[in-house]
Amino acid sequence: MSDRNPGRLAGQRALVAGANSGIGAAVARGLAMSGAKVVINYVVDEPAALKLVNEIEKSGGQAMAIHADVSNEADVQTMFAQMIETWGSIDILVNNAGIQRDAPFLDMTLSQWNKVMDVNLVGQFLCTREAAREFARRGVVPELSCAAGKVICMSSVHEVIPWAGHVNYAASKGGVMMFMQSVAQELAHQKIRVNGIAPGAIRTPINRSAWETPEAEASLLKLIPYERVGDPADIAKAVVWLASDESDYVTGTTLFVDGGMTLYPGFREGG
Ligand code: BGC
Repeated sequence: MSDRNPGRLAGQRALVAGANSGIGAAVARGLAMSGAKVVINYVVDEPAALKLVNEIEKSGGQAMAIHADVSNEADVQTMFAQMIETWGSIDILVNNAGIQRDAPFLDMTLSQWNKVMDVNLVGQFLCTREAAREFARRGVVPELSCAAGKVICMSSVHEVIPWAGHVNYAASKGGVMMFMQSVAQELAHQKIRVNGIAPGAIRTPINRSAWETPEAEASLLKLIPYERVGDPADIAKAVVWLASDESDYVTGTTLFVDGGMTLYPGFREGG
């Protein structure tokens, strides 16, 4: 992401779940370039998390890596306690950790189902609850932001597009949407803003098979009216906006960043 604007989120403290790769890493960079201190949460690939901390520090930002499995209550509570002890509080939570365990429905195991629900949905619950408790305790700090806190839930176009072969994943993202809206409704009066981002096909490790060969990419592009695969920086820019006071009146909404994937591209000629 090229837009460096350290004044935008100056002094704010962010936690990005699953920040060691893909969209999460780009989001962490984007927040850091906007002046926030960033916790790089990871559960695998510690070297990648430490490398990102180093990169952010070298470019003048502040970051720290914290290991925690977002689906584990004790891990999550320890992580937030460590962040709050070190930096005093939290202003921005990005619920980005997410996985796929794909299988044809008839073959899907309970463990594939549970693993996806645990990371994609339980993880968002546990992290949001910890962040919201701190936002509510601390309240608005006008020098930092108009809001007491901002939560950004990484969803997917599959919160609305059904996805054969990925029933667990689509169900988890449908859950993320209703989770996000319900928490937003409940906490708005405490000046806590909760929003979602629904990325389309973004070039990251999670969907490598969908873009790594020219044939795969050509077939993927048929689903994207804007005719390019997304870049993690596209998502980072949306997160920075939702975390900033520029979106102060926005809560309970999902921002689709998908090159038009949700526009039913099949109907351009059909119907
Ligand atoms: C999935 C990707 C997929 C994209 C569009 C994302 O949420 O994680 O694997 O390419 O949706 O279908």
